[in-house]
Amino acid sequence: MNKSWWETAVVYQVYIRSFADGNGDGIGDIAGLRSRLPYLSALGIDAVWVNPWYPSPMADAGYDVADYRAIEPTYGTLAEAEEFVADAHAAGIKVLLDIVPNHTSDHHDWFRAALAGEPGARERYLFRPGRGELPPNDWQSVFGGPAWTRVEDGLWYLHLFAPGQPDLNWMNPDVRDEFEKVLEFWFDKGVDGFRIDVAHGLVKAEGLPDRGVVTEGVQHNQAHPAWDQDEVHEIYRGWRAVANRYAPERIFIAEAWVPGNERLARYLRSDELHTAFQFDFLRAPWRASSLRSVVQDAMSAAASVGAPPTWVLSNHDVTRTVTRYSRSQPDGLVETDWERARWAEEDADHELGRRRARACALLQLALPGTAYIYQGEELGLEEIEDLPDDVRQDPTWVQSGFTDVGRDGCRVPLPWSGSSVPYGFSPNATTTTWLPQPGHWGSYTVAAQQDDPDSFLNLYRAALALRPIRWVDAGAVRWLAGPPGVLAFARGDVQCWVNTGDVGVDLPDGCDVLLASAPGVGSVLPPDAAAWLAAACDS
Ligand code: NOJ
Ligand code: CA
Repeated sequence: MNKSWWETAVVYQVYIRSFADGNGDGIGDIAGLRSRLPYLSALGIDAVWVNPWYPSPMADAGYDVADYRAIEPTYGTLAEAEEFVADAHAAGIKVLLDIVPNHTSDHHDWFRAALAGEPGARERYLFRPGRGELPPNDWQSVFGGPAWTRVEDGLWYLHLFAPGQPDLNWMNPDVRDEFEKVLEFWFDKGVDGFRIDVAHGLVKAEGLPDRGVVTEGVQHNQAHPAWDQDEVHEIYRGWRAVANRYAPERIFIAEAWVPGNERLARYLRSDELHTAFQFDFLRAPWRASSLRSVVQDAMSAAASVGAPPTWVLSNHDVTRTVTRYSRSQPDGLVETDWERARWAEEDADHELGRRRARACALLQLALPGTAYIYQGEELGLEEIEDLPDDVRQDPTWVQSGFTDVGRDGCRVPLPWSGSSVPYGFSPNATTTTWLPQPGHWGSYTVAAQQDDPDSFLNLYRAALALRPIRWVDAGAVRWLAGPPGVLAFARGDVQCWVNTGDVGVDLPDGCDVLLASAPGVGSVLPPDAAAWLAAACDS
């Protein structure tokens, strides 16, 4: 059966602010991204997802959009964006953008009009009277603190994230019309699809009832009157109808943190979205039994609605994979916000984390469905946990009352070449990058890894070159019995073995090792390693 590209794609996430700087101001931009397209082509990915590149006051690194039809001047111009889409297509790379429909920036014309009291303007947001001096309900912002801010005339507006991100009222037809037009605006420019930010949050329970449970913040995976309301699905049916009017196919991927894959699958019904991130993979500890159960659960849930499963090891919101695997592993799934505080207490063994991250990359890329690579993952970058407090930009830092350092540590500009900052990130060697890079990244640059056959980068390149040949059409996962601590499966005549245990394990007799995450793997797979086997072997 012929699959569409998005059912098996490897998507590379470009965090534009930190990918490559073209004009020397220390901030990534479209010119930098265009100049590095050959790198992305050589890596072997199918598509890029570019984090928000729209005009923004950057209250939340661009997830506070002031104008959905333009480009942030720091990043370039609309003409450059169009040229980038054309260049990417010429290189055989699809382009996915990020759409942020749950909230706008407080600098958006609509919100300014709402503050100015223009007729009808407040109905596009969620303004409510308070309860005396208290906010309208007990909801907390995801970043910490109350989810409500009071304006001059005494009303409060809802912001599930930063105060600079007022939530839209999706019960208002203006909002629905506007976003469908925004989709068309970018689809008309040839963009291949969208990652939908906070896709589970657009509709709030009627009457905005108290949650009734006091927690530090709104935890994404828990039931909440702001999350995962049944009425949200109607919005996506409308969006799908817009996408269906275009050829070639335009697609959606939902960022929807909902309790369990069954709820998630509802977003993937045939008249709704194409795919959704299944985040349990990145919440699972480095433990064969946990990995196997999240993989099986994700595949079953996706199959129940005929969608491909998705595999994500990290993104711009969570601790980098290397660091996640550098410390003792919890028993169950972790809450991503909680990890940061807990893990800072324990020393990190980054070399251990790198071995595991390499192995997990081979697991990820052997599975059916789509895989997402967050920029820098292919270089084996670790989370930068010791950024000076005065450079931190993530609103989480301030809103948590300086108790959660937030997500800046996974957003540090990429190292491309050279032995000192800015490691080729910028053409201006004396620039100050928007977040400081560490002094020890000289051996993690693209240039340093380029010709080393054992480098992280070359493992990714080899895996991405083999994946279409060996795995993409290989069929369903068949779990194989293995010793404790080992995850092993076959798809057709290829096998993937992952050893999360403490001792080396024998690989089946007569197998050819196609690719391994550790050097010199022959008949034995060492701890914290994975191998792909061409299986004329016994299993
Ligand atoms: C999810 C995005 O990935 C994150 O970076 C952002 O802070 C929130 N949504 C709010 O837009
Ligand atoms: Ca720049």
